[in-house]
Amino acid sequence: MPDPIAVNSMFARIARRYDVANRLLSGGVDVWWRHRLVAAVRRQPTPDVLDLATGSGDVAFALSKGLPPTTQITGMDFCQPMLDEAVIKQQSSGRCPNITFRQGDGMALPLADACYDAVTISFGLRNMADRHLALGEMLRVLRPGGRLFVLEFSQPYAWFRPFYYFYLKRLLPSIAAVVTGDRGAYEYLCGSIERYPDHAAMTAEILRAGGRSVEVKRMTLGSVALHIAVK
Ligand SMILES: C[S@@+](CC[C@H](N)C(=O)[O-])C[C@H]1O[C@@H](n2cnc3c(N)ncnc32)[C@H](O)[C@@H]1O
Repeated sequence: MPDPIAVNSMFARIARRYDVANRLLSGGVDVWWRHRLVAAVRRQPTPDVLDLATGSGDVAFALSKGLPPTTQITGMDFCQPMLDEAVIKQQSSGRCPNITFRQGDGMALPLADACYDAVTISFGLRNMADRHLALGEMLRVLRPGGRLFVLEFSQPYAWFRPFYYFYLKRLLPSIAAVVTGDRGAYEYLCGSIERYPDHAAMTAEILRAGGRSVEVKRMTLGSVALHIAVK
């Protein structure tokens, strides 16, 4: 189970190089995963959106560009240095004024009940110490009929697993060590992906937390999954 203090300080250490490392280590495919997430959110009107574990804000920025400008977006994360990166990007682009970045813990959201139409979380749930609690919190702040979008690593198709884990365990930490200077953070990444449930078990977790009508979109040979649930 991830230790929240260790997770917070790890993201604080890699915050400044997080975006570069993401693009490089995923070969740029991470942009497409987030694009699929935004396309799914767009299918229904969503005046108020929470992007939890927003990190350096890439999902919040993609939502801002992909949704009507009247949409209000809250980008929330418990790691201030990651939020600082998001704010620097927002200020330097001079765009996306409809995003407010705020600090907050996903396991005890500093937000009222039923105040969002959509909650998105991208590559964040895996890092939370208590997924059931975090999912419950995300559902709590959704309005009835609101939708939860969980984009996360998953277990790939069986034939692809040996190649995938060879890349994650052998190659990725060495490349990440050069890019971020923090090999340990990316060894953690690999372990956390290996321990994470497959798409069917994740669906069961969302249902147990109170989500309904769960839909799953598997991407990149199953290595990433987008779960969509309704409150
Ligand atoms: C891998 S990054 C993902 C950032 C962004 N969503 C993206 O797609 O690039 C994971 C983020 O989750 C945040 N996080 C982890 N545990 C959290 C918690 N309990 N509450 C809020 N944020 C958390 C970390 O600080 C980090 O910014």
